[in-house]
Amino acid sequence: MKSAKDSQVHDIELLDLPRVNNPAGNITAINNEAEIPFATERVYYLYDIPSGESRGGHAHKELQQLIVAASGSFTVVLDDGVNKKSVTLNRPDKGLYLIPGIWRELVDFSSGAICLVLASMKYEAEDYIREYQEFTQFKSKR
Ligand code: TYD
Repeated sequence: MKSAKDSQVHDIELLDLPRVNNPAGNITAINNEAEIPFATERVYYLYDIPSGESRGGHAHKELQQLIVAASGSFTVVLDDGVNKKSVTLNRPDKGLYLIPGIWRELVDFSSGAICLVLASMKYEAEDYIREYQEFTQFKSKR
């Protein structure tokens, strides 16, 4: 994995998660260091997102995450300080693997969308970069 300073949006991968198909409903299981390359320390989910709202608007220094549209859809706008890329998540068997040092915004949530996040660390306010200018400075220091 590239360092947070060197990470680029074209390194960001959409992972195919396994799906156990069943006429009675499907199951997707995510195992640490198997389907995802990190160990999950925390799970959280965003829900009841009002129409037109956006979330995110920050980067992380160390945190790795897998972002899944457990229900509905939304778009993740990724930015490495040079390039931007938008990824729409709309299937529970696809996961966006986010490495550190990427600015992200989550936009265009469908009604009832659930954004499920597996995270490699517990919540730490110090791991966030919340000012875009601070982010571009962080990325430009090599
Ligand atoms: P934040 O990560 O800024 O949300 P988003 O990126 O979805 O807009 O977190 C919003 C608030 O929630 C912040 O004040 C801290 C709190 N929070 C926790 O307490 N634990 C967590 O695991 C997360 C993700 C957020």
